[in-house]
Amino acid sequence: MIVTIDGVAASGKSSVSAGVAQALGVPYISSGLLYRAATLLGLEAGVDLGQEGAVLGCLNPPPRLEPLAAGNRVWQAGRDLTPDLHSTRVDRGVSVVAARPEVRAWVDAQLRALPAPLVAEGRDMGTAVFPHAGAKFYLTASPRVRAQRRAHERPEEVDAIEAALIERDRLDTTQSAPAPDAHVIDTGALSLQGVIDAVLARLPA
Ligand code: C5P
Repeated sequence: MIVTIDGVAASGKSSVSAGVAQALGVPYISSGLLYRAATLLGLEAGVDLGQEGAVLGCLNPPPRLEPLAAGNRVWQAGRDLTPDLHSTRVDRGVSVVAARPEVRAWVDAQLRALPAPLVAEGRDMGTAVFPHAGAKFYLTASPRVRAQRRAHERPEEVDAIEAALIERDRLDTTQSAPAPDAHVIDTGALSLQGVIDAVLARLPA
């Protein structure tokens, strides 16, 4: 079975997906890392991130997602891109790259080639990539709550992080909407384990 966990930026998707996957004994895949990898490689090459062809030209050799249980990694040939994927400049550029249809097609093809069962995490896992998933979830939380969580991972102040998250939500609107059959969970008042338990409790027997 495939379980999809979509949601807004910094809603806890990766940690929740890892926990749910661990409880089920299956791998999880973090699709945002591939969009981040394309963005990083475009930035390093100095190309215009809005130019789809230029960004795609940087994906050679193509970065590959390694769905490790302890945390997904992305490799390009022998280089581990993972430590560079969560910088503020990648955060800022990624929505523009992710809006390009050919970049989305490249990511989607890589995800669909992975063998089920799995837990897939992102923005459009339950709508576009795995519309026939056995269970779908969409995580939300207020921008303030998300910024406070992210403040542990970024050097900026909470206010600046919150403003950046609101802007990324706006830019991601087209590629991020709950599937009609998704369970929507507001994670604001819940602990990480509380969200994992809420997901597990809603899985079909
Ligand atoms: O999940 P994460 O915040 O790491 O995703 C980074 C960016 O990648 C998002 O802001 C969004 O622009 C893009 N993304 C997407 N579709 C996905 C996953 C991520 O468009 N399935």
